[in-house]
Amino acid sequence: MQICDVPSTDPRYLSTMGGLLAALGTLIDDPTRLREWLLSQRRLRVNTDLLVAAFDGERLMASAAALGLPGGAALLLLPPRLPARTVPQVAHAIVQRVKARCVDTGIRLVQALTEVEDRTWPAVLRDCGLHFVTRLLHLRRNVSAADPSASRHSDLRWIPYSEAERPRFIAMLARSYEATTDFPELSAARSAEDALESHTAAGESGTQMWGLGLLEEQPVAVLLAALHPGLSMLEVAYLGVAREARGRGIGSQVLARARDEAVRASANVLALSVDRRNESARRLYDRWGFRPSGERDAWIHVVSDDA
Ligand SMILES: CC(C)(COP(=O)(O)OP(=O)(O)OC[C@H]1O[C@@H](n2cnc3c(N)ncnc32)[C@H](O)[C@@H]1OP(=O)(O)O)[C@@H](O)C(=O)NCCC(=O)NCCS
Repeated sequence: MQICDVPSTDPRYLSTMGGLLAALGTLIDDPTRLREWLLSQRRLRVNTDLLVAAFDGERLMASAAALGLPGGAALLLLPPRLPARTVPQVAHAIVQRVKARCVDTGIRLVQALTEVEDRTWPAVLRDCGLHFVTRLLHLRRNVSAADPSASRHSDLRWIPYSEAERPRFIAMLARSYEATTDFPELSAARSAEDALESHTAAGESGTQMWGLGLLEEQPVAVLLAALHPGLSMLEVAYLGVAREARGRGIGSQVLARARDEAVRASANVLALSVDRRNESARRLYDRWGFRPSGERDAWIHVVSDDA
């Protein structure tokens, strides 16, 4: 058995990456759609070259990859189930190699998501130095569902993202991390600037649907929304309110803004993920009629922890 990198120049790349993505249910195993997806990732500055596979002769036995995001983070792509013939040592060697490739390309934070019932990947990830952090709840609601209250009153003024506004977006993101229960381990592991960068790759819309919410001309809220046109879905990749402005209905106004963006983009579904420990956000989403669509366990590895 040989474990090797499969760069995009390798003739086996498309079938190996296609098979991995199909196993993940994110794309059908269709070369045209795969090429379009790879192009869109490149436009978003995502490194899709971090693919590693185990071959027995020419036969593919197992594979895993990482998506290298802007801002020095990477997300591991692990097949939901290891092929029956794959022994944990092979899975371990593949993940170690993907991690090493991430480090070589300057990645400082590696993230992974596993199915909650899975027993195999968690053991492999732990052995490879990743730490379980929390369970993420995936929630969604129809765009056309009724608002939580009859009132559509909003006292926020929204400004879109631009390079000139980038410092204010970064500062607002950092303020929204104060006293957060939403994946605080992640915000502690990287700067708000790196976090903002990584969100640019959340969806095909890039930064187009981002907004900074001002109250009396002062930033109090941030919305990082990402459109997934193929799924007719607007994802709230992140929303945050300044600590001193919480508990006044501003979070609700941010969701109203996301819903309005979804309507403008003709999306049918609003989706987001929340740390299960984040009770205030979960109550907000519940009031807005978001319902569970799945859950996964989140793991991280901070590269500097190796030192
Ligand atoms: C989660 C978060 C966005 C909620 O924002 P918020 O502005 O406090 O949300 P709201 O004000 O709309 O709702 C919060 C509470 O205030 C109450 N509230 C709403 N309007 C109010 C008003 N006009 N007067 C008094 N209280 C009000 C709500 O009933 C709610 O109470 P509950 O938590 O007991 O259910 C905010 O806490 C935050 O940014 N946290 C850190 C980052 C984070 O967790 N982001 C979510 C990522 S998934």
